[in-house]
Amino acid sequence: MDDRYILAIESSCDETAAAVVRNGREVLSNVIYSQIALHKVYGGVVPEIASRKHIEKINQVIGQALDEAQAGLRDIDAVAVTYGPGLVGALLVGVSAAKAIAFAAGIPLVGVHHISGHISANYIEHRGLEPPFVCLVASGGHSHLVIVRDYNEYEIVGRTRDDAAGEAFDKVARAIGLGYPGGPEIDRLAKEGNPDAIFFPRARVGENEYDFSFSGLKSAVLNYVNGCRMKGEPVCRADVAASFQKAVVDVLVEHSLHAVKEYGLDKFALAGGVAANSALRKAFEETCAEEGVEFYCPSPVYCTDNAAMIGAAGYYEYIRGVRHGYDLNAVPNLQL
Ligand code: KG4
Ligand code: ZN
Repeated sequence: MDDRYILAIESSCDETAAAVVRNGREVLSNVIYSQIALHKVYGGVVPEIASRKHIEKINQVIGQALDEAQAGLRDIDAVAVTYGPGLVGALLVGVSAAKAIAFAAGIPLVGVHHISGHISANYIEHRGLEPPFVCLVASGGHSHLVIVRDYNEYEIVGRTRDDAAGEAFDKVARAIGLGYPGGPEIDRLAKEGNPDAIFFPRARVGENEYDFSFSGLKSAVLNYVNGCRMKGEPVCRADVAASFQKAVVDVLVEHSLHAVKEYGLDKFALAGGVAANSALRKAFEETCAEEGVEFYCPSPVYCTDNAAMIGAAGYYEYIRGVRHGYDLNAVPNLQL
């Protein structure tokens, strides 16, 4: 088959991103304008500000992605865009831009699920990786344990009952006075702390052995910090960060490896912003090696939001004939 070039666009949260990807695996450009600095002062993403900034940046980011790939629209076979889940105003900017380009250039439009993008980030640097495999998607909005049956064909076997893993990182970071987003801050500070200094509970969730719950752990950390303050005892923030992180890592590793065994698969992949966490990557690397399971993980830049991952997922949708019309809309709660 001839080479296929996908122009991909991602704007579901606070990154305005565009990329050009060849054959779903080869990234020719990957431009990310991060709005983190803008939202930091508010301690989280402000949806209205995110949408406005996406509008300001989107054309520039798309232009840069084409330039860096040394491509013009005539070289592009299809436009892929995240149409959900995410912030509706933010999604709409990317979806509108993608529709305009597809119409003007007379090329197909392919809508992509954001989580499918995160999972497909694994195809970029692991050219030999093919389904089926088990994937843990841990991001700011989702914590899913997924059986990847085929490209873009998923079975969700576990999910969070309350907070997503990234959300827990962000909330605990805030409680100990670290900035937004909290994941990278905790990752950094935990390196200076003792992960066995404080025991935080590893939540068990009743009926479904693959489900997660992080709100109890978050409350335990908040109670610990408040207790210390009331007793006038100093809080060692590095120990709190390291002990909290260990509790999250333990639960994610245990549930994931259990699924790999129960479903009889021999490949496991990480995805989503939390997959950038150094302790999580190391724990999975070691456990998978011990258990004889092949371990895959994208580089950190492909773990957090980016458009190259949308280009990877979009390619596999495109070659199986998925096409969207100009009535494609943003779907904030799109299901996988
Ligand atoms: O996938 P992502 O960029 O956006 C969503 O789709 O939600 O994930 C963002 C989340 C945030 O909660 C952030 O704190 C977390 O990923 N994160 C991390 C790290 N880098 C980003 N969590 C733990 N350790 C990290 N190094
Ligand atoms: Zn994401």
